[in-house]
Amino acid sequence: MSDLMRRLDETASWLRARIDAVPKVAIVLGSGLGALADAVSGRIEIPYAEIPGFPHATVPGHAGTLLFGTLEGVPIVTMKGRFHHYEGHDMETIVYPIRVFMCMGIGNLLLTNAAGGVNLSFAPGDLMALTDHIGLWADSPLRGLNEDMLGPRFPDMSKVYDPLLIQLADSVANRIGFALQHGVYAWCRGPAFETPAEIRALRMLGADAVGMSTVPEATAARHMGMRILAISCITNMAAGILDQPLTHEEVMATGKMVEQRFSALIAGIAGQWGKL
Ligand code: HPA
Repeated sequence: MSDLMRRLDETASWLRARIDAVPKVAIVLGSGLGALADAVSGRIEIPYAEIPGFPHATVPGHAGTLLFGTLEGVPIVTMKGRFHHYEGHDMETIVYPIRVFMCMGIGNLLLTNAAGGVNLSFAPGDLMALTDHIGLWADSPLRGLNEDMLGPRFPDMSKVYDPLLIQLADSVANRIGFALQHGVYAWCRGPAFETPAEIRALRMLGADAVGMSTVPEATAARHMGMRILAISCITNMAAGILDQPLTHEEVMATGKMVEQRFSALIAGIAGQWGKL
């Protein structure tokens, strides 16, 4: 067994010993989107710092705990706080929790994030299902020796985000009373927001939204054959679209503004996903 598999196995066994049911869906909560956690019942909350092998979070708005429980009767685990490249973590560290989930037997991954709107028809507060992503300039979390026990050397990326799950998300949003946007998410390094010229370039490349997360996790999850859905909260229009500077406070404030709708959507999706 490789060193990575041994470490993953140790973390997964440690966590499994602390819960009754293996979660059906793992949910990663983006910046300012932590309120969903309040809707979780039967809670077992474990700070990252207590979990053997787990990295530690550093960004304000990212609490850094793993929360097990149920949402609409479906056993789930949520990551309150994720790991970003701009914090200095390498890609293997960023995707470690996702690999742990798979090693625990959790095959379904719901990623959420805060993102800037690149598509001019979007508005702050919109929620967008990712149909695809652009991560050409992101280091791959799969770089280095392939871990054959996790997945193939050259994984297919033609349908990272499951079309059936996007349909499911659409129908939950419609039931709540709003329409989900659909679009392509472009990964950027951060932590500086993009320049207006970079946003114009990304728009020409086909991006609808831009953010600093999700692509590494989705890549590692796809490598392992997980079923993936990802939802962006458009917290601001991307640089240069409006004549105003971008701030982390705006990102957090919009997250707060849409938290009820966002939480209802994620809970509804988990409830439906549990029945698949
Ligand atoms: N750019 C990159 N990441 C982001 C943005 C943005 O405009 N908004 C929220 N996360």
